[in-house]
Amino acid sequence: MRVAVLGCGVVGTEVVRLLTTQASDLAARVGASLELVGIAVRDTSIERDPVVDRALLTEDAEGLVERADVVVEVMGGIEPARTLLLRAIEHGAAVVTANKALLAQDGPTLYAAADAAGVDLYFEAAVAGAIPIVRPVRESLVGDRVQRVLGIVNGTTNYVLDKMSTEGLDLDAAVKEAQALGYAEADPTADVEGYDAAAKAAILASLAFHTRVSIDDVDREGISGITADDVVWAERTGYAIKLLAIAERSDQGVQVRVHPALVPLTHPLAGVRGAYNAVFVEAEAAGELMFYGRGAGGAPTASAVLGDVVSVARHRVLGGKGPVESSYAALPVLPASAA
Ligand code: HSE
Repeated sequence: MRVAVLGCGVVGTEVVRLLTTQASDLAARVGASLELVGIAVRDTSIERDPVVDRALLTEDAEGLVERADVVVEVMGGIEPARTLLLRAIEHGAAVVTANKALLAQDGPTLYAAADAAGVDLYFEAAVAGAIPIVRPVRESLVGDRVQRVLGIVNGTTNYVLDKMSTEGLDLDAAVKEAQALGYAEADPTADVEGYDAAAKAAILASLAFHTRVSIDDVDREGISGITADDVVWAERTGYAIKLLAIAERSDQGVQVRVHPALVPLTHPLAGVRGAYNAVFVEAEAAGELMFYGRGAGGAPTASAVLGDVVSVARHRVLGGKGPVESSYAALPVLPASAA
């Protein structure tokens, strides 16, 4: 099974590490060996982690996707990721992506292309890092009626708010720490201003409510207006400030929003520290479910990527295909301004 990796940043390096160091275990689980045939990067000359075999690096991403059975996209951003993934699908490759921005903006194009080509499109790593949340919402709860999805889905802002509380750091200093730890996006504005959380909320809402929610439908407010004093004051009065993503169904349709909220210190979400994430799902028959774990960072995110790689590779070996998304019903989505 030929595997191509697009991108070799914090997550890509850890994906390569797992593919390399766990090769024999992965082969046993898949029933075929996973051969890493190339790693597409913007610049092959820069220094990288020794786990990355320089001979596999290429700047020809287009050529690489055409010679792979499984394409793993961990480069992020809209382009060239979208074009490369569509090309991979056209060539019959299964796609695994961690790209929340792309899925939240133009997921339907990718879902339709994958369904038309009869190939898998998996994206567990796009939401909440290591936490299995996409599969539960996309597959396990597909027979139920989800009412609400609520949680902390951005590790960087949770880390920053935590540092404001425990060390009195200001926003810029705490963001720099989150960048150094590999939690923040290439442009941390996406974290701080809530765009990253909004993208994840749009993806979860689309899956939970079987409709199309784009990032533009999400009412969004980030944490740039929050100071260390606000965080400390909130705690003195019995609350933690958390950036929450909330998606809920009402008689009018689906409403999705991201904003800082005062969470009582007695609530389980108040105890979610550092770069951890937590997601609550309320479904009619299942009742309340809670998912918790590491939401950011190279290794946790790579764990989710590898889970997808094994799933799609198994389908190639044994037959079968993951869920089809292009037949969603059109449940109304309330515009962001209605929130
Ligand atoms: N920047 C993201 C976060 C990475 O902090 O949650 C994981 O998607």
